Amino acid sequence: MAETLFEELKRYVGFSAGDEAALRALYPHARPELTRIASVFYQRILDHEGARKALEGGESAVGRLKITLVAWMDSLLQGPWDEAYYERRARIGRVHVRIALPQQYMFGAMNVLRQELNGVVDQQLIEAPDVLRATRLALGKILDLELAIMLHTYREDLLAQQSRVERLSTFGQLIGSIGHELRNPLSVIETSLYILKGRTEADERAKKHVGRIGEQLVIANDIITKLLDMIRDKPLQRSPVDLTALARAAGEAVQRPPGVSLGLVGMEGLPEVQGDPVQLRQVLVNLVENAVHAAAPEGQVRVSGGSGEGMVTVTVEDSGKGVDESIRARLFEPLITTKAKGIGLGLALVKRIVERHGGTLGYQRSSLGGAAFWVKLPFGG
Ligand code: HEM
Repeated sequence: MAETLFEELKRYVGFSAGDEAALRALYPHARPELTRIASVFYQRILDHEGARKALEGGESAVGRLKITLVAWMDSLLQGPWDEAYYERRARIGRVHVRIALPQQYMFGAMNVLRQELNGVVDQQLIEAPDVLRATRLALGKILDLELAIMLHTYREDLLAQQSRVERLSTFGQLIGSIGHELRNPLSVIETSLYILKGRTEADERAKKHVGRIGEQLVIANDIITKLLDMIRDKPLQRSPVDLTALARAAGEAVQRPPGVSLGLVGMEGLPEVQGDPVQLRQVLVNLVENAVHAAAPEGQVRVSGGSGEGMVTVTVEDSGKGVDESIRARLFEPLITTKAKGIGLGLALVKRIVERHGGTLGYQRSSLGGAAFWVKLPFGG
C-alpha cells in the first residue's frame, strides 16, 4: 500500500517506536502540569495584540480552549500516533484556517509548548541523562510533526483557494458575456411588453399576467446588474460617508413583513468614513435584506455600530437560524446561497465592496440567535 502523508512525515523526522515509548513514559510526569502549561500558552496569546485578535470570544473563549489544549497534550503524549491521530490533528488545523488565524503565530505557539514540556522533562529526568536526552528528542520530533500537519492544512486551503479563483475567473468571463447577451433579448421583451400593456387594459387576467412578466423582468435585469457589478468592479466615487444616515436609509429601503422589527443601536456619532456612498449603501441594504429575510415571518433585526483602533464597525444581526456550519467557510463566495430564491451574489458583492474600501467583512453567531455580519471600515488618515 502507498505510504500516507503522515507515514512519510514520521519517516522524515525519524519518529520511531522508541520515541513513542519515551513519550508514553513522560506522560505520568507531565499530566499534573498540563493545565498550568495551557494557561501559559493562552496567556502568551492574550499578551500579544496581533495573536489576541484571533481569539474570537476574547478571554471568555480561553476557558473552553484551555480544556481542548489539555486534551490535545494528553493525546500528544499518549498516542496512538496513527492515521486517526493525523485526521484529528488536521481537523484542528482546519479550525485555525477557518478562523483565519495567521500561520506565523503557530511557530511561537508551538515553541511555548516545546519550552514548557521540555521544562518538565528537565525537571523530572535530571537523574537519568540518557532518558532525558531521548525524551527531549522524541518531544522535538512529535512537535515538529504537529507543526508540519498544521502547515499542511494551511497549504491545502491555499490550493483550494487557488483552484476556486481559477474556476471563478473562467466563470466570471462566462457570466460577463452571458449577462451582456441577455440584456438584448430582455430589452426586446420590455419594449414589446410596453406595447402589449396598452392593449390589455380591458382584460383583467391578461393585465395581471403582463404585470407579472414586468415584475420578473425587473428581477432578471437586477440579477444581471449584480453579476456585472461583481466582475466589473465599478470605480469608487469617494466622499465622506455618514454610516448612521446610511444605515437608516437602508432600513427604510428594505421591505419588512409586519412581524419583523428593526432596531438601530449605538449608531449615533460614528466617525465618518471615506468611501463610495452608493456602494456602501448597497452593502447595508444587502445585509439588512438578508437579515430581514432570515428573521421573517416573525423576529428581530438589529443594526449596531461602534468604533475603535481606527475602524468603524457596523453589525447587522437577526434572530433567524444562523448560517449552517457546512457552508460557513464558503459563505462569501459567489453562487453560495441558502435561500430558495436568489443566486447567492449578495454577500459576495458585499465582501468585494467592503474590501475595496480597505475593510473586512465577517460572520459570527448573533446573541439574537441567528446570524451577525459585521463590516469594519477604516476611518481618518
Ligand atoms: C501549537 C499551536 C496550537 C494548538 C496545539 C492549538 C490547539 C487547538 C485545539 C485543540 C482547538 C480545538 C479545535 C476544535 O474545536 O476541535 C483549537 C481551537 C482554537 N484555537 Fe488553537 N491551537 C494552537 C494555536 C493557536 C493560536 C496561536 C491561536 C490564536 C492566536 C489559537 C486560537 C484558537 C481558536 C480561536 C480556536 C477556536 C476556534 C473555534 O472553535 O471557532 N490557536 N486550537
